[in-house]
Amino acid sequence: MERMKCIGILTSGGDAPGMNAAIRAVTRSAIYNGLRVKGIYRGYKGLITGEIKEFKTENVSNIIQQGGTILKTARCEEFHTPEGRKIAYETMQREEIDALIVIGGDGSLTGARIFAQEYDVPCIGLPGTIDNDLFGTDTTIGYDTALNTILDAVDKIRDTASSHERLFFVEVMGRDAGFLALNGAIAGGAEAAIIPEFSTEVDQLEEFIKNGFRKSKNSSIVLVAESKHTGGAMHYAERVKNEYPQYDVRVIILGHIQRGGRPTSHDRIIASRMGVASIEALMEGQRNIMVGIEDNKIVYVPFAKAVKKNKPIDEELLTVLKELSI
Ligand code: F6P
Repeated sequence: MERMKCIGILTSGGDAPGMNAAIRAVTRSAIYNGLRVKGIYRGYKGLITGEIKEFKTENVSNIIQQGGTILKTARCEEFHTPEGRKIAYETMQREEIDALIVIGGDGSLTGARIFAQEYDVPCIGLPGTIDNDLFGTDTTIGYDTALNTILDAVDKIRDTASSHERLFFVEVMGRDAGFLALNGAIAGGAEAAIIPEFSTEVDQLEEFIKNGFRKSKNSSIVLVAESKHTGGAMHYAERVKNEYPQYDVRVIILGHIQRGGRPTSHDRIIASRMGVASIEALMEGQRNIMVGIEDNKIVYVPFAKAVKKNKPIDEELLTVLKELSI
């Protein structure tokens, strides 16, 4: 195998606070280890259109504290097609990029897995998503910041909820994952969380109401993980309004505010550690793995395992929320 000389780095899918810290870490660690670095703009799209720029260490100065991603991001339909991936591979050859570091969530790492298999390109993934839904890492880059943004909002909502004695449904992001909703509910002292992991098994709203949510309280907050379509919390509010007209119900959808902001120290640190580990992994000859952190140790997880949507919700967290919301 020829010695690796140049790596490409891209961010893809929904942005997440800490992605910039990861870009910085990958770039600096690569340069430290004698590699050239090329920044690929707008995710896989940049690999198809050739929007690529050589990165020196100063290109990543002053970004560790910034939310978003200096490389921009996109969800690229073309990369889903064999034709699109062929163009992407040709771009890599033309640019003399020997390996790819992909920072993104489930969809982005799935793209990396397929591309790596098709073209035998070494790809290393970093888990960058606020959803925390990748298997093989305790937390993903951006999750902690988003959780704290939710907490800040819930604390503020509680003030007005309790003044008006209202029931609030707070819809948070997470697509198919309830980590933000469940841990946001625990940390914010909410009464319940409605999460996609259980929605087909039980009527969670029914449960919540049956348990007598107003036994000892005049105001309540329920966190709802967004369903397939943003706005699912409206549906729960309508149901309560119809079935319990005595309750004064309001809905707030936090939306994209959860994706922005300065990354927390946790997200900056894991992004930095994972960035360095991704270059170490490449130099050791690892490929087609995601770098994760479990029990505070760096781990390498095969893409196929990381992206299978098999990260379980910890039952203990459900118990904590249930016991503490009486
Ligand atoms: O995957 C990250 C995420 O923020 C999800 O929680 C959310 O469902 C989705 O992205 C929203 O995507 P977009 O920004 O394209 O609307």
